[in-house]
Amino acid sequence: MAQSTLAETRPAEPTPAQTAPAEARETPATQAGEITLRIFRGDNQGGEMVDYTVLVAPGMVVLDALHQVQARHAPDLAVRWNCKAGRCGSCSAEVNGRPRLTCMDRIDKYPADEPIVVRPMKAFPVIKDLACDVSWNFRVNRKIPAFQLRTDRPRQFSQAEADRVQEFRKCIECFLCQDVCHVLRDHEQQEEFCGPRFLVRVAGLEMHPLDAADRVPLLKKELGIGYCNITKCCTEVCPESIKITDNAIIPLKERVVDRYYDPIQMLLQIVSPRPAPESSPKEGER
Ligand code: SF4
Ligand code: SF4
Ligand code: FES
Repeated sequence: MAQSTLAETRPAEPTPAQTAPAEARETPATQAGEITLRIFRGDNQGGEMVDYTVLVAPGMVVLDALHQVQARHAPDLAVRWNCKAGRCGSCSAEVNGRPRLTCMDRIDKYPADEPIVVRPMKAFPVIKDLACDVSWNFRVNRKIPAFQLRTDRPRQFSQAEADRVQEFRKCIECFLCQDVCHVLRDHEQQEEFCGPRFLVRVAGLEMHPLDAADRVPLLKKELGIGYCNITKCCTEVCPESIKITDNAIIPLKERVVDRYYDPIQMLLQIVSPRPAPESSPKEGER
């Protein structure tokens, strides 16, 4: 059933049961075909969880349910979205405690008799309701030197080399990996650690066969790759199925270890300092 049809058949005005704070009452009884959406309402000063009754339609996703709440109960509910197709990365939130793209999260996978709890991403400051301030990510991004073309080899590379970096270019910047990473989420080390999304970006540049820049010192110092302890939580939530830990972070960690902690490499660096980036070997590097 189309959402516009549903809206015509239900009252537009909020009822007390639909707008009262969740702490103050029981979950409203839902009828067949209805679910309860429990949504954070508030800002960076605090807020409360509020229950809304939503009529379920076939194929509905959490973002549809949020839009129904906006249309019929709470027009001031702040929700970010753009594509509704899992491409723009803007509808990220936490659904039942797990970072998700709400536009790709089917309602019918959740038990109908329990509220579906939707909160903003915890790792970022809340602006209002489900909208977070993710601008810290863009400040981190500016620290990473852009692609620099090598001039010492032909502009050709193998399919395998292309495939390797292509995985990292699938990133849609949803920041779900940033949200789940305990270094940012629980330990709030945003000053020290760039988070998995930007290790993916660095991997896409560093492993490009035609890139000349050297970002290994940046990885060790400003981006704080040593803070990652390979829990793989970021890989588990990535909607693009990027193998963040295995294919990006671990190879980058190995480059840092080779440069700074391998005694033979350290000796070589002293005896024969690293050449200028334009002549850095790229082929065959991890
Ligand atoms: S693997 Fe590293 S970057 Fe990914 S969530 Fe764990 S600590 Fe964070
Ligand atoms: S790496 Fe995956 S989870 Fe992280 S921002 Fe990119 S698409 Fe989202
Ligand atoms: S609305 Fe674009 S990814 Fe969900």
